Amino acid sequence: MGCAACHIPRLPLTNQGWIFTEPNPYNPSGNLRLGDAPTLRVDLTSHELPPPRLKPDAHGVVWVPAFSDLKLHDITAGPNDPNAEALDQNQPATSSKFFAGNTRLLTRKLWGVANSGPFMHHGKFTTMREAVLAHAGEAFSSRQAFEVLPAYEKDCVIEFLKTLQVLPPGTRSLVVNQDFEKKEGSHDPD
Ligand code: HEC
Repeated sequence: MGCAACHIPRLPLTNQGWIFTEPNPYNPSGNLRLGDAPTLRVDLTSHELPPPRLKPDAHGVVWVPAFSDLKLHDITAGPNDPNAEALDQNQPATSSKFFAGNTRLLTRKLWGVANSGPFMHHGKFTTMREAVLAHAGEAFSSRQAFEVLPAYEKDCVIEFLKTLQVLPPGTRSLVVNQDFEKKEGSHDPD
């Protein structure tokens, strides 16, 4: 249905990007910079941290199942869409652009969506179905493709979204039932 054009199932993390450091090379000025203090390093793939945990594959890439492209999109029907932002907080306060509002928002990651409601940037939706049905603009054709599905297949999409949860430490399988045990018939990704 085109959902994955924006909600990209997995993005590659390379060059040991899974080593968290503080101070960090991306810290903006005014914060501690590399060399200002002893560097704390944490390997986020380490088996010493609570599982489940992403691991690098044979090519040294950690695939992060974010289901986002980390980009801005306008999925509103225009500035009067109730899901648009009344103010554009990226513009200088009191400028005309500030009051013109904002319709471009970051693709929400869907990893963890099933236990991170309420949904969308404004948190106005309590169900994932409402969130999907509120897609317009750049995602209009994608929403239409969802709307014309038979009821059972619509439910299947929502059930799939429900499998995208952040699992409690110690969970052995990535696709689980309500007791956090491996869901019957599911296949864990590599
Ligand atoms: C053109 C890009 C695009 C397409 C295509 C798209 N989405 Fe989205 N999606 C977004 C953006 C942007 C948001 C965040 C909007 C906001 O925060 O107000 C979002 C939010 C969501 C949310 C809410 C998540 C949360 O945590 O709040 C769900 C669920 C969702 N999309 C599912 C889908 C499904 C299912 C499809 C396919 C039928 C789809 N999306 C197609 C861009 C897209």
